[in-house]
Amino acid sequence: MDQPVRYSPSVEQVEPDEAETIQGLEEQFQKILDTTSQDYGHAVRSVHAKGHAIARGTLRIAQGLPPELAQGLFGVPGEHEAILRFSTNAGDILDDAIRLPRGVAIKVLGVEGERLPGSEGDTTQDFVLVNAPAFAAPDAKKFLTNLKLLAATTDKAEGGKKLLSAVLRSFESALEAVGVQSAMLSTLGGAKPVHPLGATYFSQTPFRHGDHIAKFQLVPVSAIKDFADATINATGRPDAIRAAMNELLAEQGGIWEFRVQLCTDLETMPIEDASVAWDEEACPFRTVATLTVAPQRAWVQGESEKTEDALSFAPWHGLAAHQPLGGVNRARKRPYAFSSAYRARFNGCPIHEPRTLEELGA
Ligand code: HEM
Repeated sequence: MDQPVRYSPSVEQVEPDEAETIQGLEEQFQKILDTTSQDYGHAVRSVHAKGHAIARGTLRIAQGLPPELAQGLFGVPGEHEAILRFSTNAGDILDDAIRLPRGVAIKVLGVEGERLPGSEGDTTQDFVLVNAPAFAAPDAKKFLTNLKLLAATTDKAEGGKKLLSAVLRSFESALEAVGVQSAMLSTLGGAKPVHPLGATYFSQTPFRHGDHIAKFQLVPVSAIKDFADATINATGRPDAIRAAMNELLAEQGGIWEFRVQLCTDLETMPIEDASVAWDEEACPFRTVATLTVAPQRAWVQGESEKTEDALSFAPWHGLAAHQPLGGVNRARKRPYAFSSAYRARFNGCPIHEPRTLEELGA
């Protein structure tokens, strides 16, 4: 296999108008947050608003990893508490019959080491993943164009839950009008209604992996992997995913492998274009840790929402050794902080960066 590229700050190329783009993203998130918080009387995440499961688990860093993989958090074998939140990507709490990509956010606790700017003093490492290998837009500017459409179709009068039927009706023509590839449609309403426990999740964007650069992946490896091709019929059952996940996690929990794909070629595995999935044949994902979730109730109506409100998962919460890289990642720093601060303010519930699961009432 080719040698992994060594990280240096020169692997990133900052565009001159990035600050303007980020400002634009925040404005759109503000619109979405203003609309949904008025609709619900409660502030939810400006994207990935609907949570399906909150699960407590343990991340075990593998022993004897080769030096190129034993980096940052993965440099020291051992166990960490972790909390996972599974979600759907819209900024509204939608009926599960609407087919959208799913996400999982993982917060690893008890992590020591030099911190990223903005997360000093904490001891967490977050990973924020979606069930597709590449991001729908190459860069933050293009993503802003897509986000403007989403924000514009967040309809106050109709209420958040009806949002997407309107979005879907208007999307095809709207996307064409702004020249977005029609492949975007699958990301925005035509996704397969997969079972989130059988899905494989990806960071999509690159991160520093200590001396190297990597993308991350989370793959189910216990019996939940049998649900890889399963779908959930949500017709007439708006919260069908919570029910299906709760049932399976209560029965058998789940085990996932956390894998990294090292960058071995900056030309074919670009840092600045998040829409390019790195070739797995050229450089496969390799396992660095195992995430185990014991059987548990993963959604308790009235309680799980409080846990969601108290937490913020963000790519910039973590170690300097896992610095988010590339324009899409640089553009995520402020909006995640903006959205979680909005939620904290509106809900009167401060965001809590836990040191132990016990602190969360687990
Ligand atoms: C420029 C690009 C992006 C922007 C501006 C952005 C922005 C945001 C914001 C504002 C939130 C809500 C934060 C909160 O209220 O706590 C969020 C949540 C989320 N994002 Fe992104 N995002 C971007 C790209 C991505 C990518 C590439 C992925 C994954 C591959 C991703 C996955 C998620 C997930 C799973 C959540 C929910 C986290 C949770 O459960 O708390 N996002 N994003």
